[in-house]
Amino acid sequence: MVEIKKILLPVDFSDVAPVVAKWAKDFAKQLKAKIILAYILEDLTAYEGIYVDIKTLTELENTLYEGAKKSMEDFLKENFSDFPEVEPVIEKGDVVETLINLAKEKGADLIIMGTHGRKGLDKILFGSVAEGVVKNSPIPVITINPYRAGLLTVEEPALEPEIA
Ligand SMILES: Nc1ncnc2c1ncn2[C@@H]1O[C@H](COP(=O)(O)OP(=O)(O)OP(=O)(O)O)[C@@H](O)[C@H]1O
Ligand SMILES: [Mg+2]
Repeated sequence: MVEIKKILLPVDFSDVAPVVAKWAKDFAKQLKAKIILAYILEDLTAYEGIYVDIKTLTELENTLYEGAKKSMEDFLKENFSDFPEVEPVIEKGDVVETLINLAKEKGADLIIMGTHGRKGLDKILFGSVAEGVVKNSPIPVITINPYRAGLLTVEEPALEPEIA
C-alpha cells in the first residue's frame, strides 16, 4: 500500500497560498504526514546574457533571498502555528524543475499545490507552474483551485463549457 508520509507544498506567498496551505494541512493531519513548505526564487541567470552587471544581479538575488526568508517566517507564523511538522525550504532556480527535483530529493510522496497563484484567473485552467509540475512530476500531484475550493472572495469565472 502506498504510504503518504511527506507532502511537498509549494507556495508563492500570494493570496491563494493560505487557502492551499489549509487543504494541505488537513490532508497531512489525517495522513499523519509531514509537510515540506517550498518557495522557489526565480533564476536570474537568464539575464546574464544582456548588459547587466553580474554584481547587480547577485545583489538583487541576495535581496530577493532575504525577502523570501522574511516572507517564509511570516507565512509560518500565520499559517503553521497549529502544525509544527513543517520544514521550510527556499531554493533558487527554474521553478518547475526545482520543485520536481526537491520533491524527489526530499522523498515526497505527494505534492499539493494551487491551480493558480499570484497571477490568478488570467489563466483559466492552470497557471504555468501548476501546469509544468502536473505535466512533468513523477510524484502524484493534487491541485487545489483556491477560487472554487477555498474562501477567496473573488468573482468566480463561468464554468468551462462542456466539450460535446
Ligand atoms: N515561486 C514559486 N515557488 C513555489 N511554488 C510556486 C511558485 N510559483 C507558483 N507556485 C505554486 O504553483 C501554484 C500555481 O501558481 P502558478 O504560478 O502556476 O499560477 P499563476 O501565478 O496564477 O500564473 P503564472 O505564474 O503562470 O502567470 C501556486 O498556488 C503555488 O502552489
Ligand atoms: Mg505564478
